[in-house]
Order: sequence, then structure tokens, then C-alpha cells
Amino acid sequence: MTTGLRVPLAIAAAVALMISQGRPLMGGDGMPSKTNLPKADYRGLTLEEAVEKRRSVREFTKQPLSLKELSQLLFAAAGRTGSVHGFGLRAAPSAGALYPIDVYVLVSSVEGLEPGIYRYSTEEHALERLKSGLFAQQAQKESLGQEAVGGSAATFILAAVFERCRVKYGDRALRYIYIEAGHISENIYLQAASLGLGSVAVGAFSDQGWNRLLGLDGEKESVVYMHPVGKVKQPAP
Ligand SMILES: Cc1cc2nc3c(=O)[nH]c(=O)nc-3n(C[C@H](O)[C@H](O)[C@H](O)COP(=O)(O)O)c2cc1C
Repeated sequence: MTTGLRVPLAIAAAVALMISQGRPLMGGDGMPSKTNLPKADYRGLTLEEAVEKRRSVREFTKQPLSLKELSQLLFAAAGRTGSVHGFGLRAAPSAGALYPIDVYVLVSSVEGLEPGIYRYSTEEHALERLKSGLFAQQAQKESLGQEAVGGSAATFILAAVFERCRVKYGDRALRYIYIEAGHISENIYLQAASLGLGSVAVGAFSDQGWNRLLGLDGEKESVVYMHPVGKVKQPAP
């Protein structure tokens, strides 16, 4: 079993950083469109309670998420929680701390945020708007018609920049990237449970359709997983 190339962490991390990480936050039209997120300082359920409570939820109300809730979910997914040799470490683990997965959010209904598609910056704990507009219907269509996607207040999209991980791990990178998507997914699930929100992991979607929606080429960078989130629709009494 191969364990990948033995490149020192600091060198691999520096190369990975150069591969499209740390770009300045600019809108798709070239105009700066950065939204600083509120501090993610929510304290909710214990870990044990969140693990017990976590369930896949596919039906949401039309109520918006607050910016604070969105901020907390993004922090749980990919927030900065530490550093080693000056390189940032995140909430979810990553092979060689290379962080090949970028988190995007398709916003339909979040207080204080224009509907559109955004990219999350871990370093700045901020969002960069890439596109403005309501994309819920198109998102549902590209997700094999799943209403959880079209009816969500926000859908978190995990997209892999393959070279960031390949630079150290070669052919083994693909395995690590999908494992890492799972780590991020579980953090979103547990954070949503702790916030009293609903979410579901979604693996059934059109890669091509979603890559087109986000403007990704599908080769260097591709959508690998997603998580619609919203307020839980209570069953009728
Ligand atoms: C890799 C993966 C892909 C999934 N894809 C979908 C999906 O496309 N649509 C969906 O409704 N649920 C999806 N799920 C959620 C599962 O259906 C769900 O986890 C399972 O039914 C167990 O229920 P629980 O999460 O409430 O424990 C996926 C889960 C995983 C782990």
C-alpha cells in the first residue's frame, strides 16, 4: 500500500496554498463583494447530544437562516481553529493539512445576504459573492430534482481542487479528498443539529450541471458533495 510522496508538510502546504487558495475576495464581475461574517461563538448542544440528535432532514420551512447561523455552519465546515509553522489548521482534518476542499454556498434565504453563489474564505472568515440571483430551481434540477436542495435556505457545496492534495499524495489524493468531504459533511450535520436546523448530505447530483453553475472546469476543480440546510418543517399535529 503506497503512503504517498514524502514531501515535508511546510513545502507541500506552501505549494498547495499557491494552487488557487488565498485569492483576494472579488466578485464574479471583478468588483470586490466581500461579506465579513459574524464571530462563530455559538455554544449549543454537547457533542454527545448533537450526535444523538443528528438526522437527515429534507423538508424545510421558508424561514431564512440568520447570518450568525450561516457563519457558525461555515466555521464548523472549514473555519480556522489553529496553526502550525504559520499555516492555518481547520475545524475538519485534512491529509497533510493541505485542505483541497473549498466551501461554496448557494444562498436562497439568509438574513442580510443577497441571494446568490458565494465562496467561503477560511482565512478571512468571510464570503465572496460570485453570482447574484436565485438559483434554487436550477440547483434542484441539477440535483436530480431533490426538493431538499431547491427548498433549502442555503446549500453548502464542497468542491475539490485536486492538485492541492496530489502535490503530496499523487494517486492516493482522490481517496483522501472524498474522505475529507465526509469529515466536513459530518461537521455540518452536527453543527446543524446543535443549532436546531435541518440538513442532509447530498451525493446524487449532476457533476457537470453543478460545475457549470459554480463556474468550475470539472477537471482541476469539481463539486464532490453538498449539504442543503434550513429550518426544520415540523410535522402537522
Ligand atoms: C455519501 C452519501 C450520499 C448521500 N446522498 C443523499 C442524497 O443524494 N439525497 C438524500 O436525500 N440523502 C442522501 N444521503 C443521506 C442518507 O440517505 C442518510 O444518511 C441515510 O438515510 C441515513 O439517515 P440519517 O442520516 O438520518 O441517519 C447521503 C448520505 C451519504 C453518506
